[in-house]
Amino acid sequence: MARLPQVVRKEPTRSTRSPRRPPRRGGGRRARSVRRVLRDRRQPVKVRVDSERCQGHTLCAMIAPEVFRLREIDGHSEVIDEEVPAGQETQVIEAVNSCPERAISTID
Ligand code: F3S
Repeated sequence: MARLPQVVRKEPTRSTRSPRRPPRRGGGRRARSVRRVLRDRRQPVKVRVDSERCQGHTLCAMIAPEVFRLREIDGHSEVIDEEVPAGQETQVIEAVNSCPERAISTID
């Protein structure tokens, strides 16, 4: 009796995976880069809001009220103090990742 050739299945490589993978836990590339900035910092991290992009969604001020405040004139966000206060790093990361307009960024 003739033997059939054995079929060897290979694990899919990274390039063959579906591009529609769900985002990783704990945020994607952007969240990791913000965490890296905060982890590797030697100087205080600074945060800024791009006033051109901000549309007044208010999430940042709700998440980190000690860092962001809303202007009375138009309801858009502004940074209270450019330097992130100690203990507010996690809230700032969450605010960066929550802003639907991507108007918040950190500067190291
Ligand atoms: Fe503006 Fe984004 Fe905050 S749109 S009010 S910076 S959540």
